[in-house]
Amino acid sequence: MLPARPTVALTRAYRFSGAHYYYDESLSPAENDRRFGPCARRPGHGHDYRLEVTLRSAVPPAQGMVFDVRELDAIVQEAILDTLDYRHLNHDVAWFADHLPTTENLALYAWAALVGRLPAGSLAGVRIYENADLFAEYRGE
Ligand code: NI
Repeated sequence: MLPARPTVALTRAYRFSGAHYYYDESLSPAENDRRFGPCARRPGHGHDYRLEVTLRSAVPPAQGMVFDVRELDAIVQEAILDTLDYRHLNHDVAWFADHLPTTENLALYAWAALVGRLPAGSLAGVRIYENADLFAEYRGE
């Protein structure tokens, strides 16, 4: 038996490409090289990122939808992809002027960009995959 309004999680994936480097201006060039290795090299290098957005809500089975996926696509396009896709994250995205554009910080950025545009309490998590072997997840904690 199902509850009358079971809580269901829905995840939608998106892709974007961006360039970045890791460099802490408060450190010496040698210390940046030691800490970040080739990731510190200018002008940077690129990744094909995967973004996963997970929404949760109580869904009456007769209705069967957590959220309108087309509406989510439009929100993600406007809130994230238009800003990040085919950009140099360090130079083109203001927030990364003083935050290292790490996978972790991209997850925080994506959450902050989305949470106010979705129904209260519906955003359950965001994941940013830098590649198949590395992702960061933020769940609003
Ligand atoms: Ni990188």
